[in-house]
Amino acid sequence: MPWKTAGRVTERYATGDEVVRETGWVFNNATGNTLTLAEFVASGDDEVPTYLQLFGLVGDHPERATLVEIGSGIGRMTCAFTRTFGTVVAADLDAGFLERCRETVARFGKIDRLRTLEVADGRTLELRDDSADAAFSYITLQHCSDDDALGLIAESVRVVRPGGRVAFNLRSRSSADVVARPLGAVVRVLFQVPGLGGWISRRRMATRLAWQANRVPPEAVLALVGDRLDDVAIWRHPDGFASAPGVRVETFDGVNRHHWWLVGTVR
Ligand SMILES: C[S@@+](CC[C@H](N)C(=O)[O-])C[C@H]1O[C@@H](n2cnc3c(N)ncnc32)[C@H](O)[C@@H]1O
Repeated sequence: MPWKTAGRVTERYATGDEVVRETGWVFNNATGNTLTLAEFVASGDDEVPTYLQLFGLVGDHPERATLVEIGSGIGRMTCAFTRTFGTVVAADLDAGFLERCRETVARFGKIDRLRTLEVADGRTLELRDDSADAAFSYITLQHCSDDDALGLIAESVRVVRPGGRVAFNLRSRSSADVVARPLGAVVRVLFQVPGLGGWISRRRMATRLAWQANRVPPEAVLALVGDRLDDVAIWRHPDGFASAPGVRVETFDGVNRHHWWLVGTVR
């Protein structure tokens, strides 16, 4: 509900620059009256090459490869993906965000390489088995219900061919969750009150609370797809604590302290 409402809010603005000023913080935390879509995309351009390299997501012929991005939003990272991969499937719950994503990629990426995919039920990817070479998801799975997050992970593994790579970003439990998660549940209920959702979705703190939907642990992800993956690693900040029995842990100080990634190769 919070994402659909934010998607409708973005439809009110005429240009991508205005969207970034009014709701861009939904994606990259930056606020300000002079922000531009170009700066917004630059924040994705900074991050994408690092993740592609760190997680081994680029094979020998990326121009012939397909990457599925789960939770593309308005295309902050999608532009950079289209400069590397021959096909990028930008998947998102909200069709309005996907329309904006097309505009963003048309200006800053390679639009002929972009396909968009609405995740209408929040958990199913309408793509064929083994039809992609890699799947990537950043700051999205933590914002879904547990079932949707796990559903999207299982679907990603289904659509990536054997030998392809997957990288899923999730969030660890923290002491702040004791307050933040119950409050978030209350705000999510308020989003359903007619007229109130649009107003809340422009309030940064309330919206951020509403997103804090799950803390699926590594064990739950591994129980679901661990037997479909080889070369599995958990990536986290050196001060982070995500781990799972028998799984290699790698650290990188560019990872948010509260995040962890599950990375692997599909069997
Ligand atoms: C914080 S944004 C991250 C966007 C992008 N990955 C980035 O880093 O800029 C989260 C995105 O996930 C999408 N999303 C939330 N729940 C989803 C679901 N169940 N299926 C697909 N997309 C979802 C939202 O609509 C939103 O665009």
